[in-house]
Amino acid sequence: MMGPFFPVGVPAPEGDVVDREDFIPTVAARLADGQSLVLSGPRRTGKTSVAREILRRLRRDGLYVAQIDLFAVSDVLAFAYALIDSCLENVGLRGVLARAGDKLGRLTGTARFELALAGLKLSAGTRARKENPEDLLANALELPERLAARDGRRMVVLFDEFQEVTRLGGPDLLKRLRAHFQDQPHVAYFFLGSKYGLLKTLFASNREAFYRFAAWINLPPIPQAAWTEYLTRKFTERNIRLLPDAADTLVSLTEGHPYDTMSVASAAYYAARELGLSEIDTTTVRLAYERAMLELEPVFTETLEAAARTPVARSILFRLAAGQGPYAKGGTGADHSQRVRRALKELVDAGILVQLGRGQYRFTEPAFRDFLSRLVAGT
Ligand SMILES: Nc1ncnc2c1ncn2[C@@H]1O[C@H](COP(=O)(O)OP(=O)(O)OP(=O)(O)O)[C@@H](O)[C@H]1O
Ligand SMILES: [Mg+2]
Repeated sequence: MMGPFFPVGVPAPEGDVVDREDFIPTVAARLADGQSLVLSGPRRTGKTSVAREILRRLRRDGLYVAQIDLFAVSDVLAFAYALIDSCLENVGLRGVLARAGDKLGRLTGTARFELALAGLKLSAGTRARKENPEDLLANALELPERLAARDGRRMVVLFDEFQEVTRLGGPDLLKRLRAHFQDQPHVAYFFLGSKYGLLKTLFASNREAFYRFAAWINLPPIPQAAWTEYLTRKFTERNIRLLPDAADTLVSLTEGHPYDTMSVASAAYYAARELGLSEIDTTTVRLAYERAMLELEPVFTETLEAAARTPVARSILFRLAAGQGPYAKGGTGADHSQRVRRALKELVDAGILVQLGRGQYRFTEPAFRDFLSRLVAGT
């Protein structure tokens, strides 16, 4: 598959996954051991990239793997279809249900035939008229264990954007998933999500179905040295010299934020080509940063709208971006501090801020902080 020279906005392909040399094998080993995991991290920090690399390696090691992006499924039935299809790829049946083209929960002729060939009987809507998507879902949820047990393999199933499950169904759906998953000795589940608050509720609240089902892991930051090494090498492939100063400037502007660093690198690459440069200096990097910021503007505007739903939250963000504390100078009283505390918690739950210590917060995305401080300054 040929993608853009610097992968921006697509999961980093093999060979472009920067760093993670310790993280990937550790996580892969735990999953291969049957330990289910939940990986949480803010938007665009590389969860999908790293998870797919882990799956590639597990597959190479002989495990069965399946993956579903919950953003891409519209309802429970689509979820069941996606899970079945992804499971069947392991036994060489690609897109059986997608091809069957029947979205009513029936398994039509060809699909039935192919499944029978694979020695798998999936029952859904066997009696005419009584088509039941619930049956298909139950089958789908059992399929990973059935396949893995049948073939004497272990299997890892990845659910990307798992918090979206709450859109597909309520507590009942979660209970059903959990009921199936917990009796599957050959299968480990790997949950990803960017909404920290929602994931935390699902996996860490003792009232929820997934309480303690999976161990919680966080995505570590990518060290700046790993970025400069990768970028320098990558530009060299195209006979472009990234000057050491320029490399340092690039990763300090983005503080190594994965998506933003790739975006600036990509902008620098196209600027160099446009201008016929064989060398990238700090001036070009700064130009590239401005271009990347322009492209990020709609994303940041949307983030601001979605995250700062109250005027309090908005002004907290502006104050923090300007290097001040979260509490307003003039804002006194228990009422003010309570509202600020609540808003701060929401911003942390949304993955915009992380708390460093008492009253101390950091933006998870430096370029977003920069965007906000420019808004405040009116430039
Ligand atoms: N390890 C990495 N090496 C290189 N680039 C990376 C890495 N991780 C992430 N990126 C860059 O960040 C972008 C976003 O990565 P990815 O889609 O994996 O993040 P995500 O956390 O899953 O995002 P989202 O929250 O939007 O689902 C990629 O397109 C790529 O440019
Ligand atoms: Mg993702």
